[in-house]
Amino acid sequence: MKPIEVVKDVYWVGAIDYDVRHFHGYSYTTHHGTTYNAYLVVGEKIALVDAVLGSFSEEMFSRISEIVEPEKIDYMISNHTEMDHSGAVPDVLKAMKKAKLVCTPRAVDELRKHYPDGWDTQTVKTGDEIDLGGKTLRFYEAPMLHWPESMFTYYVEEELLMPNDAFGQHYATEKRFADQVDQSTLWNEAEKYYANILWPLSSMVQRKIEEVLELGLPIKIIAPSHGLIWREDPLEIVKRYLAWAKGERTSDKVIIAWDTMWQSTTKLARAIASGIDSAGLTPLLRLIPHSDRSDIMAELLEAKGILVGSSTLHNDILPTVAPVLSDFEVLKPKGKKAAAFGSYGWGGGAAKRIQRSMEGGKMEVIMEPFTVQWVPTEEELNAAYEFGRAFAEAVK
Ligand code: FEO
Repeated sequence: MKPIEVVKDVYWVGAIDYDVRHFHGYSYTTHHGTTYNAYLVVGEKIALVDAVLGSFSEEMFSRISEIVEPEKIDYMISNHTEMDHSGAVPDVLKAMKKAKLVCTPRAVDELRKHYPDGWDTQTVKTGDEIDLGGKTLRFYEAPMLHWPESMFTYYVEEELLMPNDAFGQHYATEKRFADQVDQSTLWNEAEKYYANILWPLSSMVQRKIEEVLELGLPIKIIAPSHGLIWREDPLEIVKRYLAWAKGERTSDKVIIAWDTMWQSTTKLARAIASGIDSAGLTPLLRLIPHSDRSDIMAELLEAKGILVGSSTLHNDILPTVAPVLSDFEVLKPKGKKAAAFGSYGWGGGAAKRIQRSMEGGKMEVIMEPFTVQWVPTEEELNAAYEFGRAFAEAVK
């Protein structure tokens, strides 16, 4: 396994996981796998910045060994405790006998709870530096981006930011740099990553980015802990994070996500879609049982709004719709324009339940639910068309 030079004397020594299809339990699908990025900074002293998932430690060591014998490494820098980056730390500290573990004070307890071995630890806070002999690593605490102990490591002389999870994408490929891969896949994965991991933390994302920008820190390369490294126009991903955090970037898309029992709600969804199209926006039709909840959230990041529909079953939604509503409540797509619709028999609980979840997710419900009893008539389908058109006009 070959390491890849990122800049002079900094090597990517991580691992590529082509097979993983789920992240954070089953909440996030990784259609393109992922990478666990670790970086070796080689000066008079040597530091490994982050490690990999435990089951990939051999792959990481095979890359490190191409450059240096692991026991010669002086520092194991842990930017983040989550196990996809710290899982190999016990193996690392066994192999790197003299290495000191460097992390934030908050990481000490977290790491101890994950791995009970006692390690020689050096805690660092914002502005602290480690001199590798003419090569300086400086640390910036980044609490809640996305764990309390998260930190960024900055290699001063090469203006290289290693922000761990921030600015990553779940994208496994033999290429290491963002400019070498298909741009559509790259940005789709970056959006999906933000929507499913960072969206609920948007206010903190905005604050931290503005703080870093105010420092005037020159940044030539951003090397995250997942996916591709940003070396051409690295500030583009930073700008997009800011725009996503503020809800500023929108496409012409409106999502219609629904499930149906006897096709009545599907008929409404199709009529609503025609109405949206007639207003000049692009409807994305997502029958929830055939769709992926984390893809829907990724599409929602830049969509103008979303309509969610369900038939009513037992005075509630169809159970298939629940994961989408759960994502609204936890990922909190704040301010995203929304409305509910659906058919019912003798009691119409589904649309109200959908609206409650939208409000719980701090979304902006701009229209009362559109509901019909039993099977929609021609008139009711025309009304659904007008409902879609009015929604589109309102979100334009
Ligand atoms: Fe928060 Fe990639 O782990």
